[in-house]
Amino acid sequence: MASEFGCDDNETESEALVLRSKSERVHITKTFENGKNDRTTKKRMIAVVAIVASAIVLTTILSALASTNETTWIRSTAKHDVPKPGNDGAMTTTEDVPQQFPQFSCPSEVRQAQNYDESFEGVYTNISEHIIESNITAFIESFRHEEYDGWGKTYEEVKAGLHEWKIERFTDNLNDGSTIYESASGIGLSILLTLEAVQEVKELKSIKVYGNEYVKESVYLANKLLPALLSQVNATLGSICQGDSTDLHFVPSNSFDVVFTGYISTLLDPLNFGKGDLNSNYELYEHICLNKKKKDWEAMKLAEIAQERQEDWFGLWVQEMIRIAKPGAAIIIEQVSRPYCKDMYDWGGVPHKFWSNGIHKYGWDVDRYSLDMSKDQVFTQRYNVFMRKNL
Ligand SMILES: C[S@@+](CC[C@H](N)C(=O)[O-])C[C@H]1O[C@@H](n2cnc3c(N)ncnc32)[C@H](O)[C@@H]1O
Repeated sequence: MASEFGCDDNETESEALVLRSKSERVHITKTFENGKNDRTTKKRMIAVVAIVASAIVLTTILSALASTNETTWIRSTAKHDVPKPGNDGAMTTTEDVPQQFPQFSCPSEVRQAQNYDESFEGVYTNISEHIIESNITAFIESFRHEEYDGWGKTYEEVKAGLHEWKIERFTDNLNDGSTIYESASGIGLSILLTLEAVQEVKELKSIKVYGNEYVKESVYLANKLLPALLSQVNATLGSICQGDSTDLHFVPSNSFDVVFTGYISTLLDPLNFGKGDLNSNYELYEHICLNKKKKDWEAMKLAEIAQERQEDWFGLWVQEMIRIAKPGAAIIIEQVSRPYCKDMYDWGGVPHKFWSNGIHKYGWDVDRYSLDMSKDQVFTQRYNVFMRKNL
């Protein structure tokens, strides 16, 4: 998989050179065994030595070129616009971002996401607006025992349920100076929750945090809350931008040590009935699922198309997560819901087999043997997924 993306080309070439030099060595040994210590042998030896020497020089040049490629984007993006504070969410300046961390600007405009639904988005907008308008400082004091980001559970309840998973899956992938990115970060509390859990078992310094979120009010709030909250877990804020998780074009590739998403917000109307209202849509899809169970061929076909569209949406979201992760980095997708017709009250999602099929279907650059899933402990009908990007 990695060679498809050209990552291993240098390695393959230098391996070939080593092999060549090995075969040359065999050739030299054989010549000595024959006892033919004549001029022809000397000429051959000189030629062989010359080939081996050029191979060594070429290998050195190739590996130097490879390491230059790794750092190219850091240097080139450093020249780009510096993210500026404001509603677009970027809160960093050149002074507080060391050179080795990713630097990029938040987009000035975000197109409507394909999963946009007015009534659904309203839930998040209202929660964030309410906190902003009431008192952010008071919220910082009390958030541990308050519901947030539409979970219907408090921070402490979500943290307790995810605790084991967080420690098992994040700890080994975070070290001093690591970068972590959350796709669809809401108001940012799931990043805090993650780092709090990890810090219990591994003391970490200088973690840099990044993310994106579609709802503008939540982006604003995350950027207000996180600078203070992250200092309690030895981390600092890079940026939380407003952005659609299926289109992170403004985030440079191969940049983060861990990329995760707390929950992929599904396509609420994959068949584009366009009722514009969650409940009307819901009734239509419920009808399809019930008739599918009765083997109604039309319903079966519609359910199949809806599921395929849902899966392609998930595929796109995860594809972006993989792209921005560093080679070898952890990709973590939490609280994945199951297909709509399996779990009609959980918005729709994907089956377990979607993940192994997806590696092939969407050409995800991940190690298929790293794929692991486990039941979520917060919402037990959902599951969590772990994958590692190819080196
Ligand atoms: C259930 S909340 C989870 C928030 C956070 N990840 C957590 O685990 O606490 C889902 C979040 O996804 C956001 N979201 C939905 N669709 C999105 C999209 N296309 N791009 C980015 N964010 C999106 C919502 O606005 C909401 O904040």
